Amino acid sequence: MIALIVLGTVMDIVHKKNVKYFFDNAKKAKKNATKSLSAGERIKVLSKTVVSDIATTSELGAGKRRLAHVMGMYGTILFWVATVAMVFMYTSPNSTTPNIWPILWHGGAILTVLGGCWFWFFLRVDVYSEAQPWYRIIKADLFVLALIATSLFGLIWSYLQNLDLGNRWDDKVFLVFYIVANLILFGGVYWSKFAHMFYKPGAAIQKNLAEADGSRDNLPPEADGPEQFGLGIKREEPKHY
Ligand code: HEM
Repeated sequence: MIALIVLGTVMDIVHKKNVKYFFDNAKKAKKNATKSLSAGERIKVLSKTVVSDIATTSELGAGKRRLAHVMGMYGTILFWVATVAMVFMYTSPNSTTPNIWPILWHGGAILTVLGGCWFWFFLRVDVYSEAQPWYRIIKADLFVLALIATSLFGLIWSYLQNLDLGNRWDDKVFLVFYIVANLILFGGVYWSKFAHMFYKPGAAIQKNLAEADGSRDNLPPEADGPEQFGLGIKREEPKHY
């Protein structure tokens, strides 16, 4: 899985040339810096980025979009960490897996399904702002749907094992679904939005450093005047993109 993530992300970087653009842009912006940051100031900016932009997805503002993302993000992290721990840490037949790992695995899967479904059914831009029906599926949905599918099939498989069905076919079918969903999730990195979890933190660090050193990513300075947009702006929440 790790190899598939690395391969998919490297192919994506080569194809989009996004990392090259990112570094060229950062170099260009540096020339416009009005202040050179000390090591201490850099560490402060980095810590704020980790705590706010990365750990709580502050880019999404306060509200349901951010909450849904945080649920899906931490759910997935818990699910992956618990999976790795249960697969690799208790390999001998006499070892017992502490209860905490399956609890975290199930908790993570439930959070991922809830956060992911909330986003996909109600918050994704096609449905929320563009009035597309919820059942319209496009390539951009590959990541979120594969993520929900892995957790959901994992949960159903776990439930069926718990029923102790002996050698019946049901839980094997869901084990196969679980494996296929994982293959799609990790094998589809090149085509999906998977790699945003690496790009977004990098972009947030660059944005916050550019704000702190005054280069502002080559953007003009903020207007020095009152925000007067007229009454029209209050008529409706801006959500038509
Ligand atoms: C395990 C880590 C992560 C997971 C599982 C995850 C999951 C997701 C999912 C499922 C989506 C919806 C994609 C779509 O179909 O448009 C999404 C969107 C997004 N993610 Fe993440 N993400 C992770 C890490 C991050 C990080 C670290 C950041 C920022 C630093 C971030 C920022 C965003 C933003 C800004 C969006 C767009 C949200 C929207 O359109 O409402 N994500 N993420």
